[in-house]
Amino acid sequence: MIKPEAVECGNQGAIIDLLIMNRFNITRMKQFRFEEVEAERFYAMHKDKPFFSDLISYITSGSVIGLELEKENSIRLLRILVGATNPQEANPGTIRYMYGTSLQENAVHASDSSESAEKELAIVFSGA
Ligand code: CMP
Repeated sequence: MIKPEAVECGNQGAIIDLLIMNRFNITRMKQFRFEEVEAERFYAMHKDKPFFSDLISYITSGSVIGLELEKENSIRLLRILVGATNPQEANPGTIRYMYGTSLQENAVHASDSSESAEKELAIVFSGA
């Protein structure tokens, strides 16, 4: 998922190009704005974290782009391409190194397992 600041800054095209160049097959894509309750379901695994309410305010602050991607070993390979959660710790060449600005405004979210991907895709593409 491409997060609000990356969409707002016009970095979505460059990020999608990187996905294509790295041979991720885009099977579904949707630009939308989260309702608060959907965002809370999407990030339910973080509900007890101190940053949860900031995360929900931020992710509902503007449009995001949800993408369903296909590739062998896609979860692992996408997380490598995306880089560390904190852009200051991300390796050069990764999406967060190039387009992230802070721990919160880190350009993209990538699912951490197939189970999370299934759940997150159901939320993003509900009603689509
Ligand atoms: P993401 O991969 O979307 O998953 C949860 C998000 O919470 C994470 O990226 C960060 O943008 C955000 N976040 C904010 N503060 C923290 C923190 N202290 N530790 C981890 N993630 C954080």
